[in-house]
Amino acid sequence: MTRPIMSVELANVPKLRSGKVREVFDLGDHLLIVATDRISAFDVIMPTGIPDKGAVLTQISNFWFDKLRDVVPHHVVATHVGDFPAVVREDPRSRDLAGRSVLVRKAEVLPVECIVRGYLAGSGWKDYMATGMTSGVELPPGLQLASRLPEPVFTPSTKAHHGHDENITRSEAARMIGEELAERIEDVAKRLYLAAREHAEACGLILADTKFEFGLCDGELLLVDEALTPDSSRFWDAELYRPGESPASFDKQFIRDYLEGLDWNKQAPGPVLPDDIVARTREKYLEAFRRLLGREFTAA
Ligand SMILES: Nc1ncnc2c1ncn2[C@@H]1O[C@H](COP(=O)(O)OP(=O)(O)OP(=O)(O)O)[C@@H](O)[C@H]1O
Ligand SMILES: [Mg+2]
Repeated sequence: MTRPIMSVELANVPKLRSGKVREVFDLGDHLLIVATDRISAFDVIMPTGIPDKGAVLTQISNFWFDKLRDVVPHHVVATHVGDFPAVVREDPRSRDLAGRSVLVRKAEVLPVECIVRGYLAGSGWKDYMATGMTSGVELPPGLQLASRLPEPVFTPSTKAHHGHDENITRSEAARMIGEELAERIEDVAKRLYLAAREHAEACGLILADTKFEFGLCDGELLLVDEALTPDSSRFWDAELYRPGESPASFDKQFIRDYLEGLDWNKQAPGPVLPDDIVARTREKYLEAFRRLLGREFTAA
């Protein structure tokens, strides 16, 4: 197992943003998005990374971009360091980028995160228990935790720069970006979800819900950010799925269980993770890759 890559700096390219997992570098008309091996739990970045996680997630995302490109075009321009601009290629740390970075078209990202839910979990379930609806969408009575919904629902949220994203209704989304665009992204997001869910099912995975981001670039609507990774989606193991029961998180269950057993207040800094938790978590990411892509992950 290689050492985890916890952060990336480039000598001659300015860093635009450092998220919980990814670092974004500015290249003018393009961005370089690099996924590190950082992992967060309860919204806190752990001091311990999961080796190869960033590469696994990047390659899962690239797989989906390609598979779903007939539904909507995506932002990726290049995935190999050799095809990146010279200023990146020739950087002393460019070795760290292999397999975990994408050169993308810089888009004007829409301020609405497009969440699609096909199963009732997380805040969708909480909302339903309190109101019988989720984000203003009426749902049939008698649904259980983790129930499959009759139709996927679009539950947009705003992109909060600090803390939790906030769920909004469909009409609030339309007020923010206009009715026409809101309708378009809802339709595209649902079609992406349904196509991805069908593939996931064939791989023994349930895609319970997922988040997409869209952007505009030269007047064109593009799928941006990452897509359909375990970080942006809830995957469940189909074999273990029981409606009414809280399904185990596919990737973060070992970490959550470990953290719940500690006397930790869920505020930063997070505790160092033991080797066996790291190894078991890494194995889940590799399993997601193996199942979805139908081949073994190989480190670059
Ligand atoms: N093609 C694109 N053009 C412009 N911005 C983009 C594009 N693709 C993604 N982005 C933006 O890049 C940023 C990715 O970094 P972000 O901070 O979300 O990282 P992260 O690892 O997901 O962390 P967090 O969990 O904090 O969101 C997001 O703000 C996203 O909207
Ligand atoms: Mg993000």
